[in-house]
Amino acid sequence: MVLQVQGDSLVDELVMLKDVDAGLDGVIAIHSTVLGPGAGGCRLWHYADGDAAFTDAARLAEGMSYKNAMAGLPLGGAKAVLRRPAGDFDRVALFRAFGRAVARLGGRYVTAEDVGTGVADMEVVARETQHVAGLPQRAGRPGGDPSPHTALGVFVSMAHAARRGLGRELAECTVAIQGVGHVGEALAHLLHGAGARLIVADVDSNRVARVAVATGAEVASTTQVLAAQADIFAPCALGAVINERSVEALRAQLVCGAANNQLATPGDGERLARRGILYAPDYVVNAGGIINVAGEYLGWTSEEVTARVEATGARLAAVLDHAEAQGLPPHVAADSLARAAIAAGRVRAPAMA
Ligand code: NAI
Repeated sequence: MVLQVQGDSLVDELVMLKDVDAGLDGVIAIHSTVLGPGAGGCRLWHYADGDAAFTDAARLAEGMSYKNAMAGLPLGGAKAVLRRPAGDFDRVALFRAFGRAVARLGGRYVTAEDVGTGVADMEVVARETQHVAGLPQRAGRPGGDPSPHTALGVFVSMAHAARRGLGRELAECTVAIQGVGHVGEALAHLLHGAGARLIVADVDSNRVARVAVATGAEVASTTQVLAAQADIFAPCALGAVINERSVEALRAQLVCGAANNQLATPGDGERLARRGILYAPDYVVNAGGIINVAGEYLGWTSEEVTARVEATGARLAAVLDHAEAQGLPPHVAADSLARAAIAAGRVRAPAMA
C-alpha cells in the first residue's frame, strides 16, 4: 500500500492501531523498507485527533528514512505515534497491545523509545516481539541510553565543521549550547575536554548549574543563548529553533547540534546560508543514537557502534562537499543525498521496494 500524505511525502505502509480495552489508539507509518526494516521510535503524545497523529507519524517516518540512509545503516524509516489516553491508563496493557501490533508486521517495523516512552515501555513491548531496541544494555553490547552516542556524533561533526567553516580547532572556539539535558550535558563534557569555551542555557536551573560547575561554562538565559557571543550555536533542546527571527539574532558562524528538526521551515536553511552561517544538518549529525539502536538490533559490537558514530564527521564532510559542488544549502544537499541513497538501494534490491 502506498499512500499520499502531504505534498510529496509518501509512506509505503500505514497501520492503524486500535485496541479500546488496552487504550491503544495510533498509527505505525512505514516510509521505506528499501534499505532494510523500517526503524524509528514510538512516540506517546497528545494529539487533537487521528489526522494529527497520522500526519506527524508520516512526517517523522520520512525523516527516519533520511537519517538512517545518511548514517549508512541497513535500515529504512518508520515511526509509531500513539495518542496518549486521557487520565490514568494501564501502561503495561497499552504497550503489550502495541508490541502485538509490531509483531504482526513480522519485522518490517523495528521500534524503540521516543518522546513520551522509555526503556520500561520497550521491555513490555519485548514480551510480545523481538523487533524492538532501546532495551537495557548487556555487557559489551550496544543498548541502553543512546544520548552519549548522539553527543559523540555531534562532537566529531562540530570539530569537522569548525575546521572547515571557521578555519579553527574546537579549542579555539566558544560554543553556546541550548539545552544541557541528556545529549547537551554529554556534549558539554566532550567540548570541555577538547578545550572549547562554553556558554550554556537550560530551563532547568539545577542542570545548568551542574554543567557550569563541571565545565567552567558561562551561564546564559534561555532567551539570550541564541544571540550569545559564540562561534558555534549548538541547539540541543527544541525543534524549530532556527526561524525567521532567530536567524537574524544569531552571532555564531556555525550551527551544529542534536535537536531534531532545527529548521522551522526549509526557507530558514536558505536564510542561514544567505547570512554566511554554516549549517550542519541535524539528522546527519545527530544519528549517533539511532546507530546505537541499530547496533543493538543487528547484533553489532560496541566497538563497531563507536566506529560508525565516529564516522559521522566524514558523512557530514560528504554532505558539505556535495553542497559546495552543487551550490546548494547543506540541508538541501543532505536531502538529495539521502534520496539518492534510497533510490540506489531500490535499484540494488528491487524485490524489497
Ligand atoms: P532531554 O529532554 O534530556 O534534554 C533537553 C533539555 O533541554 C532539558 O534539560 C530541558 O530542560 C532543556 N530545555 C527545554 N526547553 C528549553 C529552552 N527553551 N531553552 C533551553 N533549554 C531547554 O533531551 P535529549 O535526549 O538531550 O535530546 C535533546 C534534543 O536532541 C531533542 O531535540 C531530541 O529530539 C534530540 N535528539 C536526541 C537524541 C538522543 O539520543 N537523546 C537522538 C537524536 C536527537
